[in-house]
Amino acid sequence: MMCELLVEGGERLYGELTIQGSKNSVLPILAATLLCADTCVIENCPKLRDVDASIAILRYLGCCTHWEDSALVVDTARMDRAVVPDALMREMRSSVIFLGAILARCKEATICYPGGCELGPRPIDLHLSALSALGAEIRETGGELKCRGGTLLGSDVYLPMPSVGATENALLCACGADGVTTIYNAAREPEIVDLQNFINAMGGNVRGAGGSIITVEGKRALHGGTYRIIADRIAGATYLCAAACCGGEVRLRGVDTRPLSTVSGALSEAGCTVKSGEDDVFLQSDGSLRSIRPVRTAPYPGFPTDAQPVLMAALLKSAGSTVFVENIFENRYRHVDELARMGAEVRVAGRVAVVTGREHLHGARVKCTDLRAGAALVIAGLQADGLTRISRIEHIDRGYESIERDLYALGAHVRRETGT
Ligand code: EPZ
Repeated sequence: MMCELLVEGGERLYGELTIQGSKNSVLPILAATLLCADTCVIENCPKLRDVDASIAILRYLGCCTHWEDSALVVDTARMDRAVVPDALMREMRSSVIFLGAILARCKEATICYPGGCELGPRPIDLHLSALSALGAEIRETGGELKCRGGTLLGSDVYLPMPSVGATENALLCACGADGVTTIYNAAREPEIVDLQNFINAMGGNVRGAGGSIITVEGKRALHGGTYRIIADRIAGATYLCAAACCGGEVRLRGVDTRPLSTVSGALSEAGCTVKSGEDDVFLQSDGSLRSIRPVRTAPYPGFPTDAQPVLMAALLKSAGSTVFVENIFENRYRHVDELARMGAEVRVAGRVAVVTGREHLHGARVKCTDLRAGAALVIAGLQADGLTRISRIEHIDRGYESIERDLYALGAHVRRETGT
């Protein structure tokens, strides 16, 4: 069924919003539920298409899941498969995160190569070399990866770059290895700290997440439990960027402000007033933003690549020009062509994009190319004269529970139209 988002520009945003649970936290944590044959209750679990894809994988593996309000209950006791079929792998490329957990539990795992994705080639070489360092034997036959981990041994794992997914896969697999594993040059994202805290709540012993060196004690007797997912910092960044360019006053509740500091710093430089509390962020803006110093995406705690599209959208009518340098993904400017249809002026050369603010944007028919590109189109529509009609919004629904519900709560004129 074709759905589209209809966005009427021109409204200021006022009000409060509680931010949904983190997509990039819950996906590895759902994989981690496989580490024990027990029941886990994942509280503050966002209802997303990517969570649906993970549930489909868990059920295919023989697990049982059901929702209790905003908690997802996962019973992995009757897991009876160690294979993730092609159709389920293609549904979500980050399904590769299940590899380490299945290996740790079953000592074997078969997955298909995850599809590429909109952001450019998404290799998994760092995942595979990390699992090999732990003793996994990995064979590729006809697009399938057959992994055997008869004797997984704790060891030193060196990541050439701080890959989020490779760090998580190594951490999950290390839980099934004999002895202690140390992961060097680990990614430092808050979602990895959440994964560490979840595994420790299950009786594990993981230390150092949030830093570059993580140690994992393997073969711990793990058990189920209840765990609350952290708020989604990128969803939070999205709504701060929306309020910054529309003008108004919004308060986001439930967000840890530190992971948002690079984004709130950029918005302050652009002319907003941003105040951070213990677990809330307040932003006030008159809607007239100015250009800012170059924005260079980097591994955490640098500026998050996932916030690059939404900050770019917020600056489309700012005074002056802002340079973006996308250092994480090769092809993360696919929103630029769609923004240009609305009158935006963005020049792209390789990893560099230069945004020059325009007096006006106009509503247009545009289409989402990936998750955060879709969010950027919504933010552009909020500033445009007239109606913007956004198609392919299934991309947005991968990472936002209901972007229209959240923005509508702040006074935006956004609605979903379900086509035939
Ligand atoms: C995670 O993706 C996030 N996804 C992404 O969020 C996020 O953009 C990214 O981290 C960076 O922060 C989830 O957590 C589910 P990486 P991941 O491994 O793990 C290259 C969103 O919008 N690389 O840190 O795939 C890779 O090609 C999504 O919510 C290798 O070369 O990111 C990329 O250029 C998009 N070999 C770079 O590293 C590998 O084996 C960063 O990738 C793995 C990665």
